[in-house]
Amino acid sequence: MKFLLVLCCVLWGAQSYKLLFMCPMPSPSHFFLIFRLAKEFADRGHQVTVISPFPQKTPIKNYRDIQILEVIDSFEEIKKILFNMADKGPLDNLDLIYRAGLGATTQILENKNVQSLINSNETFDAFIIEQFTSEALLGIGHRFGAPIILMSGFGTTNLLNHFVANPAPSSYVWNVVMKPSTTYKNFWDRMHNFLLSNYIDFQREQYFMPEHRKLFKKYFNSDVELDDIVYNVSLILGNSHVSLYKAVPQVPNIINIGGFHVGPLKELPTDLQNFLDDAKNGVILFALGTNLKSSDLKPEIRDAFLNAFSKIKQKVLWKFEKQLDNLPENVKIMEWLPQQEVLAHPNVRAFITHGGMLSVVETVYFGVPMIGIPIFGDQKSNIATVAKRGYCINLPFTELTEEKLSKALNEILNNPKYRKNAQKLSQIMHDRPVKALDEAVFWIEHVIRHGGAPHLRTDALNLKWYQREMIDIIGFLLGVVLLFLGSILFILKTMLGWMFCGRSPVKQKLN
Ligand SMILES: *[C@@H]1O[C@H](CO)[C@@H](O)[C@H](O)[C@H]1NC(C)=O
Ligand SMILES: *[C@@H]1O[C@H](CO)[C@@H](O)[C@H](O)[C@H]1NC(C)=O
Repeated sequence: MKFLLVLCCVLWGAQSYKLLFMCPMPSPSHFFLIFRLAKEFADRGHQVTVISPFPQKTPIKNYRDIQILEVIDSFEEIKKILFNMADKGPLDNLDLIYRAGLGATTQILENKNVQSLINSNETFDAFIIEQFTSEALLGIGHRFGAPIILMSGFGTTNLLNHFVANPAPSSYVWNVVMKPSTTYKNFWDRMHNFLLSNYIDFQREQYFMPEHRKLFKKYFNSDVELDDIVYNVSLILGNSHVSLYKAVPQVPNIINIGGFHVGPLKELPTDLQNFLDDAKNGVILFALGTNLKSSDLKPEIRDAFLNAFSKIKQKVLWKFEKQLDNLPENVKIMEWLPQQEVLAHPNVRAFITHGGMLSVVETVYFGVPMIGIPIFGDQKSNIATVAKRGYCINLPFTELTEEKLSKALNEILNNPKYRKNAQKLSQIMHDRPVKALDEAVFWIEHVIRHGGAPHLRTDALNLKWYQREMIDIIGFLLGVVLLFLGSILFILKTMLGWMFCGRSPVKQKLN
């Protein structure tokens, strides 16, 4: 037995990889995805280096931090305007995302710690980055000659499809900022989706990629073009699953690992455990994620919530970042709370959420119905999508009133269909061949073992966009048809001229 253990350790040691992880965005929810993966590899005995704005306070074995703290300050400005994004259109939201990405990328490439890493003689077996409109940073993976793996906080969307030329027909794959319409068979909805998707590609190519190309040339001393790196990524790990989003086509180097970040669950603090255990009529959890603060809500909206809560017999647990006076008896506020552990408690009856991707994944994981009050970014489309799956009530932030809130609460608490649907999808999420985290680890190691796994790439990546979309062929065929029709028309006209005028148009000209 002892011998076997030693043998395992030796083999394990032989397979120890050096992995470079990166989270450019100063958003805890984005970081958490990268952290969960990095920690797993560290626990399995690999050497892990993590570039992020969130260094660990207590050291973790095999885990080294490279700090990029300055991105936090610049994000504070953006955080202030997040509530204002609620009534803005999809393109404004996208513009915000791109600008945030470009700003963070510039700061990170200027960072001293990152510079000294780039100029060091270290080596890495893979570079795993949370991709969020930060293309120039892929240069880091290239610098170390390591296969590049993208982790996507969203599912696979049109913000990521282009990396691996994943087909996403506008006829039934809604792009991330498109409100999922009531029917994909509607002509105008499909037209809207088509134009929007193409505009988004155009906008990226026209306004953002040139900036990233400049940054890449400035900070990486390389003859290679940024595009040759961007369209060379080995793998995309999507934080999605068919239990969350509709089924869509996916090339082999996209792997969906939605749910991988959940757990291992810790014990609840005693007071919270008691609060949940004692809730005979159930508990409603209310949290707006890590970027939005409930304490920043306008007083009239805050009071609308409190009044609506005071009228139900369930308890309410609200993540609220300040102390509040005159709370209704059934409401408890906490500055911070362990969301996964609370959602896992059997007495939790519903979750009021902004609809960030992690919150959506967690509610499905634990089978809890929800009321979504989406505010910015992907939240509107997340909530609209899951509302259609029948376990969520969509209550747009801009339309919030006490009355609507009370109505939604009554509906979610008294109509059993929401809970039933949530449980059904939860079962689908858990019904997979291996755990999502193990799947993520497997595919990352697969990419390392097989030199970047070029066998997972489709030939679409070797074609120009118009070749891929067959626009050259369609254009050619259209030309042939037009030429044919034109010829027939010309012949007909000539013959008609002869028949009715008795002479050929050529003669006419001569006269
Ligand atoms: C890498 O650089 C360090 C100094 O930064 C040096 O001590 C070390 O010998 C170098 N290793 C190799 C393999 O060149
Ligand atoms: C593309 O990826 C492969 C596999 O990781 C790597 O060997 C190759 O050098 C990469 N090409 C560029 C231009 O980075």
